[in-house]
Amino acid sequence: MAFRILIDETRIRNRIRELAADLRDAYDDPLFVVVLDGARTFAQALLRALGTSGNAYEPVRVRSYEGTQSTGQHELVRDLKVDVHGRDIVLLEDIVDTGRTVRYLDDLLRERGARSVDVWTLLSKPSRRVVDVELRGVGFEIPDEFVIGYGLDFDGKYRELPHIAIWSADAEARRLQAGSTMHEGGATSG
Ligand code: IMP
Repeated sequence: MAFRILIDETRIRNRIRELAADLRDAYDDPLFVVVLDGARTFAQALLRALGTSGNAYEPVRVRSYEGTQSTGQHELVRDLKVDVHGRDIVLLEDIVDTGRTVRYLDDLLRERGARSVDVWTLLSKPSRRVVDVELRGVGFEIPDEFVIGYGLDFDGKYRELPHIAIWSADAEARRLQAGSTMHEGGATSG
């Protein structure tokens, strides 16, 4: 794999343990809202590290992002199935970039009567922020790079990488070229 690793598996695991300890101390009975697909990997590891079973875990899906550019448009394509009225919400995100997605969800949850909404995110790119959002928990602040792995994708790919890596067009081209060479080789020998 030609993509440069930014945060390896061990650092991610250790940081998630720390976040889980902070989270355990901070809430009584929170409702975890997980932004699919990207935050699923983070959310599952975090809930496992929390060590309590039976946490309600509500997935939502927001359409907002194409390629490497945030569009600023949001549409809720999978809604919550529970009433958030009076609940303390822990909103789990994979990455906060411009901040627009969490702002959209924060507004929505508060409009529906949530008592509180706190954002906990694995990654944050502060230099890219367009709207001001308060983050209660941040795994890692990262520079302005497009990253993949640990749930984060580039056009649907690389979510399964166990670490966070920096996506680059060069590395992608090299990878595709290596793939097609292997394929041609296979076809010739077959
Ligand atoms: P925001 O609304 O600009 O904060 O973007 C949030 C969403 O954009 C995240 O949930 C991701 O789906 C996506 N995103 C932003 N930066 C990256 C990145 O570096 N890699 C993969 N997805 C990203």
